[in-house]
Amino acid sequence: MLTDSFNRPIEYLRLSVTDKCDLRCSYCIPQGFTEFEKPENWLSFDDIERIVAAFARLGTSRFRLTGGEPLLRKNLPDLVSRLAALPGVNDLSLTTNGTQLTRLADPLKRAGLNRLNVSLDSMRRECVSQISGKDSFDKVMAGLNAAKAAGFERIKINMVPLPGVNIDDIDAMIAFCIKQQFILRLIEVMPMGNHAQRLDYFNLIQLIENLKPKYGLQRSSKVYGGGPAKYWENESGSFTLGLITPRSQHFCDTCNRVRLSVDGTLFLCLGQDHSFSLKPYLADRCSDAELENAIQQAINLKPEKHEFNDKPEQIVRIMAKTGG
Ligand code: 5AD
Ligand code: SF4
Repeated sequence: MLTDSFNRPIEYLRLSVTDKCDLRCSYCIPQGFTEFEKPENWLSFDDIERIVAAFARLGTSRFRLTGGEPLLRKNLPDLVSRLAALPGVNDLSLTTNGTQLTRLADPLKRAGLNRLNVSLDSMRRECVSQISGKDSFDKVMAGLNAAKAAGFERIKINMVPLPGVNIDDIDAMIAFCIKQQFILRLIEVMPMGNHAQRLDYFNLIQLIENLKPKYGLQRSSKVYGGGPAKYWENESGSFTLGLITPRSQHFCDTCNRVRLSVDGTLFLCLGQDHSFSLKPYLADRCSDAELENAIQQAINLKPEKHEFNDKPEQIVRIMAKTGG
């Protein structure tokens, strides 16, 4: 098993297939941002397949496609079917903003995608527009319907609660998720990039104390996906809530993941700059053993923890660049 220098097994790789996005969420890509990776530096599908196969041989079994907005990458279902066919790839999932799902949910499901996370920050269209910079609400709703119709189950909805913006929407999001049988995940905003550093995070450890009596929530021992989210469930089991608390209660000691950006750079931690480029190891003259060796070298660089609270100005890299 691939293990880092703090003895943490690395069982999960998140791959950004593009850093571009059709939205500009206030916590992610700043309005007017232009420094996207040039297409000539993008990993090809062959490169991505080679890297995923190498991770899988080393024991990593779960893979997630992210961005930017991954569905903007052309022919994505082809990549999904290639990755799903690799030995050792036990779980293949994708995080999307949902705007392209009416077109792609079905082809992605048929290509072998197992699970879907969709970002949605409010049930009010004007609030969604305010946060995402575009009037995207109807498209996302249609996309979610298409995803259900395509047969995706237990879809996760990612919501980033922002004080003064969408905190009052949490109840409506809960009602929506109960009705649709979606899992709601609330995420504390991380200070990635100058613009996100200006946003206050909403303390979810405090919030859960209010939600517990209101919805009869109890801590669930179930694991949905093996990530850092802590899950809560109501008694009937009709509602599952996940909390991701990088700010109020960090979970670095059990971190099991690394991230690959679209240009082939492995980022070892969201909240640190440690990185390692796999590009040189993708050339034909490099053997699979050399690539695997490079991956292990990279994993050895994984830092112990992020410092979002102590050094909130440290990370100037935006989320879409790292792979959200
Ligand atoms: N902090 C926390 N989550 C973020 N995301 C993007 N930027 C940030 C940030 N600064 C998350 C959103 C989205 C996913 C792709 O990444 O929740 O669902
Ligand atoms: Fe795009 Fe997702 Fe970032 Fe929003 S959070 S700008 S949808 S990549």
